[in-house]
Amino acid sequence: MTLTIDEMATFCKKKGFVYPSSELYGGIAGFFDYGPLGADLKENLKRSWWQFHVHEREDIVGIDGSIIAHPKIWQASGHAECFGDVMVECKKCHERLRADVLIEDTLKIQADGLSAEDLQKLIIENKVGCPKCKANDFTDAKAFNLMFTTNVGPIENEESKAYLRAETAQIIFSAFKNVFETSRMKLPFGIAQMGKAFRNEIAPRNFLFRCREFEQMEIEYFIHPDDTNNCPFIEEVMDYSMLVYSSDMQLNKKEPKEMKIKELLENGVIKTQWHGYWLAKEHQWFVSLGANGSKFRIRQHLPDEKSHYALDTWDLEYEFPFGWKELQGMANRTDFDLQQHMKHSKKDLSIFDEGTQKKIVPHVVAEPSQGVDRAFLVFMYDAYEEDKERGNIVLKLSNKLAPIKAIVCPLIKKDLSELSREVYDVLKTEMHVQYDQAGSIGKRYARADEIGIPYGITIDHDSLEKKDVTIRDRDSTEQKRVKISELKDVMKKLISYEIKFEDL
Ligand code: GAP
Repeated sequence: MTLTIDEMATFCKKKGFVYPSSELYGGIAGFFDYGPLGADLKENLKRSWWQFHVHEREDIVGIDGSIIAHPKIWQASGHAECFGDVMVECKKCHERLRADVLIEDTLKIQADGLSAEDLQKLIIENKVGCPKCKANDFTDAKAFNLMFTTNVGPIENEESKAYLRAETAQIIFSAFKNVFETSRMKLPFGIAQMGKAFRNEIAPRNFLFRCREFEQMEIEYFIHPDDTNNCPFIEEVMDYSMLVYSSDMQLNKKEPKEMKIKELLENGVIKTQWHGYWLAKEHQWFVSLGANGSKFRIRQHLPDEKSHYALDTWDLEYEFPFGWKELQGMANRTDFDLQQHMKHSKKDLSIFDEGTQKKIVPHVVAEPSQGVDRAFLVFMYDAYEEDKERGNIVLKLSNKLAPIKAIVCPLIKKDLSELSREVYDVLKTEMHVQYDQAGSIGKRYARADEIGIPYGITIDHDSLEKKDVTIRDRDSTEQKRVKISELKDVMKKLISYEIKFEDL
C-alpha cells in the first residue's frame, strides 16, 4: 500500500522524523522541523551525497558558502528581477494559486515556464475552477518574485536590502575564481555545495516536496568551452539504462521508454556525453542508497519550459503518489552565469588554458541540482512497508541512511542489564545505537522496525556464560549468534555492507 503524502506526513510526525514548524503557534506554511530521527536520517543522506560526489572523486571539490550574499549576485543571475512564478487568486475564496500548477493539475498538461498571458488564456478557455471552492473567477495572472528579502546592518533602506539565497548555485559561481586559484583543479572539474535555500513559494504543498525553506545539494560542473562533449568517464555508464521521456516523446504523445545511455547519445536524444553521464550517476546514487530504480525517469524540458539560461535541461523525476515530479534539475547552463558575473562585477573570471595558451571562460555542461528534502521523501517512500505477518510497519531504510543502526536489548532486565550496558558502551563509540529495555522483546523489535533500525542485538542468559549475543536482521527477522569480542567489527562491516547478514 502506498501512503498518500498526507499520510506520510502523519507517519513522519508520529515517529519523530519531521514535524510542522511552529505548531505551538498554529504552524507556518512551508516550514518544517526535522525531529530526532529525521535530523539523523537527513544528515546521513547528505553525508552519503558528499561521499559519492566529492570524497570519492578527484574532479570535484566542495564549498560551504554564505546564505546571505551581496545583492548584486542576484541581480547578475537574474533572480532579483525574474525569479518567480505566475500567481492567480480566486475572487470568491481568495485562495492564491500557482497558475502553472493549477493548469497541470486540472488539464494534465505541462505548464511550467509558460508566460502569465498564456496561463491566463488556458484558465479562461478551459473554464478552470478553483480547487478549493470550485468557482471559476480568478484575478489576472501576474508574476510573483520568490526571493525572500532581509536587511543587513542597523539601518534599513534600499542599500541595506539583501536576499536569502534561492539556490546554492550562485554562491558557487561567485566563489569560482577563489576556488579555482586555491584548489589546484584543472578542467574539467566540479564544485559542489550543500545547504539551505529559501523560496517564498506561492502555494507550498505536498509536505516536504515544496517548502519555503529547504536544502539543496548542487554541483556546477565546468568544462572547456571548445570541448563540450567528451566525458572521460562515459564508458562507465554507456550500458546503464533508465526510463526516458524526451521532449520529442512528450510533443508526439509517445510513452516514456527504457533506454541505454549509449542509445540516447547515438540518437542525439541527449546532446552531450556529460549530460548522459551525470543523469546516470544521479540515478545510481539513489539506487545505491536503496531507492527503487524503476520509480525514476529522466524527462527533458520542452522548448518553452527551459529556464532563460539553459541550453538543454533534463529532470530526474520520481513517481510520487501525487504524480511524476521533479527530484533533480540538470541544466546545461553554458557560460551564462560566469559571463553575467563578469559583466556585473567588472572582474575577469576567465582562466588560463595551458593547452591553447589562451584565456577562456568555462562552461557548465551539467548542473546536478538535488533537493535534500525531496530525496528524503523518496527514501521514506521506498523504505515504507506494511508487513501483515508481523503486524507492524517495517521501514526498510538502507543501513547507510538508517538514523539508528541497532538497538541493544537485554532479554529481561534482571541480571542482564549490566552486560547489555557494556555491549552498548562498546558499540556507541562506533555507530548510533539505542539501549532499549522497555516492554516485551517483540514490542521492542516492532518499535525498531517502524523507525528503520536494521539490527537488534539481544543479550540473554546464555550470553552471560558464552559471551555472545544474537543479532536480529530487520528485513528477514532471522537471528544469528556472534561473540561479544567480535561484535563491534561485525556490526561495522554489516552497516557498511562489507559483509551480508546471510554470510555471518
Ligand atoms: N540551481 C538550479 C536550481 O535551483 P531548481 O530546479 O529550481 O534548480 C533544484 O531547484 C532542486 O531543488 C529541485 O529539483 C528540487 O529538488 C529542489 N527544490 C526546489 N524548490 C524547492 C522547494 N520549494 N521545496 C523543496 N525542494 C525544492
